[in-house]
Amino acid sequence: MRILGIETSCDETGIAILEEKEGKFKIKKNLVASQAKIHAKYGGVFPNLAKREHQKNLPKLFSLIEKSLFKDPPNLIGVTVGPGLDPCLWQGIEFAKNIAKKFKIPIVPANHLISHLLVNFLNFSVKKAKNFFPALGLLVSGGHTQLILMEKFLKFKILGQTRDDAAGECLDKCARILGLSYPGGPELEKLAKKFQKILPEIPEKLKKLKLPRPMIHQKNYDFSFAGLKTAVLYDFMKRTKKERESEIYKILMAKEIQEAIFEVLIEKTKRAQKEFKIKKLFFGGGVLANKTLRKKIKKEFKGCQILIPKKEFCLDNGLLPATFAFFYSHKKTFNFEKIKSLPNL
Ligand code: KG4
Ligand code: ZN
Repeated sequence: MRILGIETSCDETGIAILEEKEGKFKIKKNLVASQAKIHAKYGGVFPNLAKREHQKNLPKLFSLIEKSLFKDPPNLIGVTVGPGLDPCLWQGIEFAKNIAKKFKIPIVPANHLISHLLVNFLNFSVKKAKNFFPALGLLVSGGHTQLILMEKFLKFKILGQTRDDAAGECLDKCARILGLSYPGGPELEKLAKKFQKILPEIPEKLKKLKLPRPMIHQKNYDFSFAGLKTAVLYDFMKRTKKERESEIYKILMAKEIQEAIFEVLIEKTKRAQKEFKIKKLFFGGGVLANKTLRKKIKKEFKGCQILIPKKEFCLDNGLLPATFAFFYSHKKTFNFEKIKSLPNL
């Protein structure tokens, strides 16, 4: 099977070709046009601007793979239909429909959240992927934070999720308070890395800097990160201009923000892992691109089998809907009229 994947749910335009032969996957192409720089000056994603960029980037990326597609045509298209930004999703969907008509092939409408987890299986054989369950999944992206129990292959149960801001959203908002650019996750990561260097120079006043770990002791699997962002804002406001603009303050804050969020994520996942006696865990979403979080997970779940996608596959890309389309190929359809954007899926 040869699958074309199209992703436009947020601010990355992605087109990929995924091949499956005798139960093994091969990534033929994975092209991403990121708009991060364009949105950086607004401090977040501007939906209509993002839509225009997708409109521009989709034909550009497609032209780079067109030759190989005509030489060796795809059998299936996977396109992200939600959740995401409505005007952006439509760009990908309409583009996918046109290509599907050209090649006379069906489309699988892809759920972006499930895709973030399934992309882990590209390193596996299909057989091994289907036998990976029961497993526990943690999805940490810009729009979602969910702990998911998968008792059987493709049987999902959401154990808990964020009640307000997602973890990635919290990183982005906290970074903005500190005057860093969008997306905030990687900016905070860069700063936090400098912590060891400033250790001997930390002024007395900043030594006590501590943020809350929201809901960490609550016996449920929900999350809440809006309060953490408020705590960052309060701390920032109480500092003098000189203090809060100092690099030491930003480094300390970045490290503490990361630790607060990552500790909560790990603690809740650990509790679920113990309660459901599950030794297989899989992770996904943009925040998993963070090296500190990846290391922490590997350290904290030593006795378990852990799957984390390669850094570039954690972020939005065309392989996500392509992988989804492979595993959900039973949902393929030629009834293109029915394929619609589902921003709140
Ligand atoms: O999955 P994703 O690419 O898009 C959504 O589906 O939301 O996730 C984007 C999120 C943003 O909040 C971004 O700040 C965060 O992932 N992110 C990171 C890193 N790279 C991206 N967070 C922490 N560390 C990173 N290296
Ligand atoms: Zn995503």
